Amino acid sequence: MLKVNNLNVYYGVIHALKGISFNVPEGKIITLIGSNGAGKSSTLKAIAGLVHTKGSIKFLGSEIVGTKTYTIVRKGIAKVPEGRKIFSNLTILENLRMGGFNREYNTLERGYDEVFDLFPILKERAKQLAGTLSGGEQQMLALGRALMSKPTLLMLDEPSLGLAPKIVSEVFGIIKRLNSNGMTILLVEQNAAQALKISDYGYVLENGKIILEDKSSNLITNEQVRKSYLGEI
Ligand SMILES: Nc1ncnc2c1ncn2[C@@H]1O[C@H](COP(=O)(O)OP(=O)(O)OP(=O)(O)O)[C@@H](O)[C@H]1O
Ligand SMILES: [Mg+2]
Repeated sequence: MLKVNNLNVYYGVIHALKGISFNVPEGKIITLIGSNGAGKSSTLKAIAGLVHTKGSIKFLGSEIVGTKTYTIVRKGIAKVPEGRKIFSNLTILENLRMGGFNREYNTLERGYDEVFDLFPILKERAKQLAGTLSGGEQQMLALGRALMSKPTLLMLDEPSLGLAPKIVSEVFGIIKRLNSNGMTILLVEQNAAQALKISDYGYVLENGKIILEDKSSNLITNEQVRKSYLGEI
């Protein structure tokens, strides 16, 4: 579904991504794990058309490098950004409306209903300013906002960051459920243990390069991964 080949991202003199290649097959959950500054967010930003990029990114067979972000969203790729980036001074409903910018006006209500089915708490708070939500609720809103664009490929940048363990399990459960309903997922996480548990295949990113890739079930037992990313000595 998504084929990334020899992807490079530079920020001035900083060479953040040094020619990485990976695939996201339709219907799968693929994870990119790596420590701070490895280039995880840069990878998702490159796919979303948010940073200047060299190399090739093919989505459903067509090249998207150089395409505007709103066109990429229309093609079916949505991103839940690191740190949620909700619009704090807008209501929950207005945040969802922003996410659904590409929808026909008469399908907006259906979109809200689908998000509210997934996250009933957002329905209760629909008219409340988003900045008043708890961290976990804000993550759900960020997810709901992304879903409003009806993506076929959903990218999530560290959805578990800063959340209590119970909420983290809830968020990962929802990712799994979306995938069971047919959505393809590209998940970026520092929480490698949880990400590898729910994903099919994983890539390990270090200093802008992919140093290891394998089925997630193999990465969980890989000694190097256990030492560096699963907190085992
Ligand atoms: N806007 C920017 N300007 C300059 N350098 C940047 C910019 N954004 C990222 N970088 C640098 O690019 C490299 C990769 O950053 P990136 O945010 O992609 O890493 P990450 O894996 O998402 O890290 P984290 O786990 O901290 O979120 C880092 O060295 C970072 O300092
Ligand atoms: Mg990041």
